[in-house]
Amino acid sequence: MSRTIAKLALALLPSTALAQQRCQWASLRSFTDVFIESQVAGDISDPIFSSPLLQYTQNGVPLTINSSASLLGTTPVTVHFSHTIVDQDQCASFTKLVVSTPSTIGTDGVRWSRSLLTRGGSGTSKETARRNLKGKDNEGERLLILGAQLRFNLSTSGNALETRVSTMDVVYAGEGDWKLDNATAARWFVEREDWGAISASLQDSRDTLEGVADAYLDFLGGSTASVPWDSPCARLEGSFYIAGNSKDTCVEGLVLPGAGQGGVGSGKAKGFAQRRYVMDQTAGSVSVFARDEGLGGAPAVFEFRVVQGRLRYVHQFVATATGGGTRRVE
Ligand SMILES: *[C@@H]1O[C@H](CO)[C@@H](O)[C@H](O)[C@H]1NC(C)=O
Ligand SMILES: *[C@@H]1O[C@H](CO)[C@@H](O)[C@H](O)[C@H]1NC(C)=O
Ligand SMILES: *[C@@H]1O[C@H](CO)[C@@H](O)[C@H](O)[C@H]1NC(C)=O
Repeated sequence: MSRTIAKLALALLPSTALAQQRCQWASLRSFTDVFIESQVAGDISDPIFSSPLLQYTQNGVPLTINSSASLLGTTPVTVHFSHTIVDQDQCASFTKLVVSTPSTIGTDGVRWSRSLLTRGGSGTSKETARRNLKGKDNEGERLLILGAQLRFNLSTSGNALETRVSTMDVVYAGEGDWKLDNATAARWFVEREDWGAISASLQDSRDTLEGVADAYLDFLGGSTASVPWDSPCARLEGSFYIAGNSKDTCVEGLVLPGAGQGGVGSGKAKGFAQRRYVMDQTAGSVSVFARDEGLGGAPAVFEFRVVQGRLRYVHQFVATATGGGTRRVE
């Protein structure tokens, strides 16, 4: 991957050596491509991953990136689809991938040997893993939707070769996770929408983007927040897709906390905690990683498409099968 690094050395140009400087779009994009290439190769030897201070979480569990439990770097994947947004103000990016793992990966990213799977036994993880394998053409292949928020540490000396990933949060979900019954269908829906660039004069401010994302998350959590629905509006939850020309479409079928259970100040609302945002005004897109308190704190990934202040698309997947790491392989 030294080829990529050479390219980056040219691309990265903090005009002054300040860490607070907005990061270059092209640099963030290239570094994110290094992340994707590393996934494909199953190799994380690229220097951008080498900071001893790198904070890595996988489905909400803090891991050492080089540990055997780390999906990244231990498991080559095939990338079927990728979508990346960059956040120049935060020197961050979000990338969404549809990947298949060529080997047998358990619900918590741990490799499953065929004998373990066929021998049977108890344990939810095992059962889920076995179910995930059923009916696939290639029994060893599993389709995953993966979201990654990457935060970069640009060197204060302005040297591209010293740029490191400082925080990397990866969340992935497959069949068996919340509302994800059919990963092939999820892939199809993810691929078909228009998330293209929005012309400069029509772009929303970061405050608007964050406000719309928060309004939706608060609404799901049971508050009376008013969400600026667009029409048409479409929502993808796991592999369930609801779309239509009416702005009511995005509300249809939403499971909201019942009366007396939700609402600000009720003390019972189970919302989305620990929200972390990556925003790209050029794409009208906001990625939010959060903990779904209604699902035991499971890591949830949202991406919103906002067009002229209105909510056009919602994508959501939640890694419930790993439950934030509470279910482990014995
Ligand atoms: C992980 O291992 C690779 C080599 O396999 C090394 O280059 C890298 O520095 C290690 N990263 C960390 C954070 O230890
Ligand atoms: C980020 O860069 C600063 C300055 O070079 C350094 O002190 C800090 O340890 C770096 N953090 C990570 C996570 O690499
Ligand atoms: C999953 O979705 C795909 C694409 O929509 C469809 O062709 C397939 O029949 C579905 N599989 C099941 C088991 O429903």
